[in-house]
Amino acid sequence: DCIKVFAPATVANVACGFDVIGLAMEAPGDEFIMRRSSKPGVTITKVHGANLSTDPAQNVCGVAIQALLQKLGNPDAGIELELFKNITPGSGIGSSAASSAGAVVGANHLLGEPFTRKQLVRFAMEGERLASGAAHADNVAPAILGGFTLVRSYKPLDITSLHTPGELWVTVIHPQIEVKTSDAREILKQKVLMTDAIRQWGNVGALVAGLYQENYELISRALEDVIVEPVRAILIPAFYELKVKCKEAGALGGGISGSGPSVFMLSKGEANARNVAEMMNTVYAPLGVDYKIHVSKI
Ligand code: HSE
Repeated sequence: DCIKVFAPATVANVACGFDVIGLAMEAPGDEFIMRRSSKPGVTITKVHGANLSTDPAQNVCGVAIQALLQKLGNPDAGIELELFKNITPGSGIGSSAASSAGAVVGANHLLGEPFTRKQLVRFAMEGERLASGAAHADNVAPAILGGFTLVRSYKPLDITSLHTPGELWVTVIHPQIEVKTSDAREILKQKVLMTDAIRQWGNVGALVAGLYQENYELISRALEDVIVEPVRAILIPAFYELKVKCKEAGALGGGISGSGPSVFMLSKGEANARNVAEMMNTVYAPLGVDYKIHVSKI
């Protein structure tokens, strides 16, 4: 009567697609054991691997499932869960999104699948609102739908899955420093220059075309962010050095993962992705900052 759920880490923005493009990694991911419960509402019995609240009103899993139950008109249905946090909170690879996404996918299954995967995104966004103050969907959408996703519009919510080329890998370095999404959003300018906007939407279109054509050269050229990255780069140690050296090591390109502090690089094939991981090591080892590196297929 219990189910096991896996919810993957995600990379939001993917360089040019601030708040609209995201991708799901195969690993790492949060895991859940969930079951129906006679106790109304959400019960979080234990959180392993991170010091997070088990109060459902203060935990993204609780808030996301509650939003789902509300919409169902059945707030008294009972869902119980145990969460195994394998993604470090504040890492920039969608930790809160994975928890929110896994929670609603699991609850939906236990309740007999009343909602489609796409409909679940909105509930998981409520978890994001609790975690960062902004209900962005560029982590929860890929965490729920897999692969690459695009948010065409927030109002109304219009999300679509994109094609994922078969040989695309991602390498992520997570420096163990804290960057709060809310802070990383506050420093952004509210207006963009027309010349920058033109360059950015050219890149977004090219990235989408590159994914569909499995054109790795085009993907590489499209991995450029002229609007957000120049402002946020100062939050990440050795960011530009990392970018240049990783491309030399075979990466197609990359940028800040979500709002940081993680940095991601895309590569064609596992061998390149592993070379990039080694290069990340070479750049970061002398810095005296602790870090973790993940290599994953998309
Ligand atoms: N798109 C969001 C941002 C993702 O960059 O602020 C946060 O993980």
